[in-house]
Amino acid sequence: MVSDGQVFPVPADLARDAHIDAAAYDAALARVEADPEGYWRDIAARLDWITPPTKIKDVSYAKEDFRIRWYEDGVLNVSANCIDRHLPAKKDDVALVFEGDEPGTSSTLTYGQLHEEVCRMANVLKAQGVKKGDRVTIYLPMVPLAAVAMLACARIGAVHSVVFGGFSPDSIAGRIQDCASHFVITADEGRRGGRRVPLKANIDEALKHCPWVGKVLMIRWTGADVPLKAGRDIVWQDVRDTVSADCPPEPMNAEDPLFILYTSGSTGKPKGVLHTTGGYLAWASWTFWAVFDYKPGEVFWCTADVGWVTGHSYVVYGPLANGGTSLIFEGVPNYPTPSRFWEVIDKHQVSIFYTAPTALRALMREGDAHVTKNDLSSLRLLGSVGEPINPEAWLWYHRVVGKEKLPIVDTWWQTETGGMLITPLPGATALKPGSASKPLPGVKPQLVDAEGKFLDGATEGNLVITDSWPGQMRTVYGDHQRFFETYFSTYPGKYFTGDGCRRDADGYYWITGRVDDVINVSGHRLGTAEIESALVAHETVAEAAVVGYPHDIKGQGVYAYVTLKAGIEATDALRKDLVLWVRHEIGPFAAPDVIQWAPGLPKTRSGKIMRRILRKIAENELGSLGDTSTLADPSVVDDLVKNRAGT
Ligand code: WTA
Repeated sequence: MVSDGQVFPVPADLARDAHIDAAAYDAALARVEADPEGYWRDIAARLDWITPPTKIKDVSYAKEDFRIRWYEDGVLNVSANCIDRHLPAKKDDVALVFEGDEPGTSSTLTYGQLHEEVCRMANVLKAQGVKKGDRVTIYLPMVPLAAVAMLACARIGAVHSVVFGGFSPDSIAGRIQDCASHFVITADEGRRGGRRVPLKANIDEALKHCPWVGKVLMIRWTGADVPLKAGRDIVWQDVRDTVSADCPPEPMNAEDPLFILYTSGSTGKPKGVLHTTGGYLAWASWTFWAVFDYKPGEVFWCTADVGWVTGHSYVVYGPLANGGTSLIFEGVPNYPTPSRFWEVIDKHQVSIFYTAPTALRALMREGDAHVTKNDLSSLRLLGSVGEPINPEAWLWYHRVVGKEKLPIVDTWWQTETGGMLITPLPGATALKPGSASKPLPGVKPQLVDAEGKFLDGATEGNLVITDSWPGQMRTVYGDHQRFFETYFSTYPGKYFTGDGCRRDADGYYWITGRVDDVINVSGHRLGTAEIESALVAHETVAEAAVVGYPHDIKGQGVYAYVTLKAGIEATDALRKDLVLWVRHEIGPFAAPDVIQWAPGLPKTRSGKIMRRILRKIAENELGSLGDTSTLADPSVVDDLVKNRAGT
């Protein structure tokens, strides 16, 4: 066991060379209090503005005059900031390194080449009628053209909505409908772990429900023979050379939308988290520079898919806004062998490596030899993101991958926050395994009790942020009311994160996980309500309740209680069917790990499902079920306990 007492001090050489050492961190904390306007202005000054902002921050979380605006009179273009401004010095420097699913397939794109590809794709979009403000849905594998597609949208002021390649046709259709997007960018197929992903076929299926989508731009990637719909489908390789290799960047207001990214909440359908141009890019850029202590020429590798926010901020926008070199990996950690990550690090001489605890736990189980047979001496810094990292995994990462020398930045943030909020700075913060440590300067976390009362000192509670930061989401697309209700009404005047958290005597934050009905499965964020609605859409299911339970590798697993309709027999074959059904309805990553047949669900007399009890049963915490006497029928609990599925 690891105690809070285990502390890893900042290595002296790192502190000496870091962008931010302990003194600079303290100075930033003091400055943001004394001169917030100046502090935030300097963060924005990292970017190239067509018109620099004079209005820095205008924020109120109060219901009457709720508003979040940063740099609101500034004008800039994101793609110019990520590409054009680097061209004079870095035209021939590598912007993107690509490593394919199969070892031996890799390539690079220089800043000059990236500029040409982005301009050409932007011109294709324009030629097809895409205009500033239009929503473009992107459904692509992890390939450089995914970054190109995002930047091409940004170049002309179109709003991208990237949908993770693991989502099913139904999920894609829902996301296209919600933002009324008329244009889709996809590929014939993707590759993942030696298998093919039928991306274009999924789009064809999804578009049966979205007849208004007029155009699909398809990238030939694997070369598979896929049907094309005349008049609708265009092949990138056929049109790329028909347009100019130059496309002037569209001047955008700082508060113009940059992208929508759908994420799961505790209720209802996924929310379209909307990020805007100036604040988002400033925050992605600054956090990348500060937290990864990025130095010119270093190869940075974030293993997240661009379909999630981590891929947006730290595969594409953060690294490129800094003129950095970002590695895009098409594959998975264990293909063809569990050495793959470490081989890629040696092959491309990666300096900074950023991944998720779930990958580390899976690789840790395969034994140290897969790691230690590689050199790894190019590594300088390690990072973790997406879920709490258990101290065992942290220590393994530190010892086996980091050779007991490399700091690990455990970065806490969310789709909603745009970039990191609570994280160590490698040159400034002593590390405690399992703690995301301290807030970045200007970020104001607090812990509150159920009534919203601030809790002081070493304590545990719900994590809120009491003030804004530039990368904060601005709205839920199409539903501003839902934005306010979801995040600012539980604890009036504060942003509620949905996370539980402990703070120790040193002021270190330890995220304990979600306190709402969101679960984190292999670093993928899922709403239990979404899985429930997929299950009840099956003809045999009367009712379903889904909770998370601790899972050794995935962090959390999906545990589903299912009540069948009268007369339906509960068989193993049906159980398999239901798992397949959820894979098909949402995507493979949402498939239940466990299905328990539930003749009844524990409900209050008013009919509300008591999820707390279901969680305890799934977690095998049978001693702490709490008071069940208020249930409409307490005997259902006995049945659920007796027939609990082993996890
Ligand atoms: C969890 C991913 C502990 C947390 C960037 C949060 C973490 C949710 C950490 C957001 C971390 C993310 N330690 N928990 N370092 N990073 N989380 O929107 O529960 O996919 O609320 O954003 O992941 O997930 P999302």
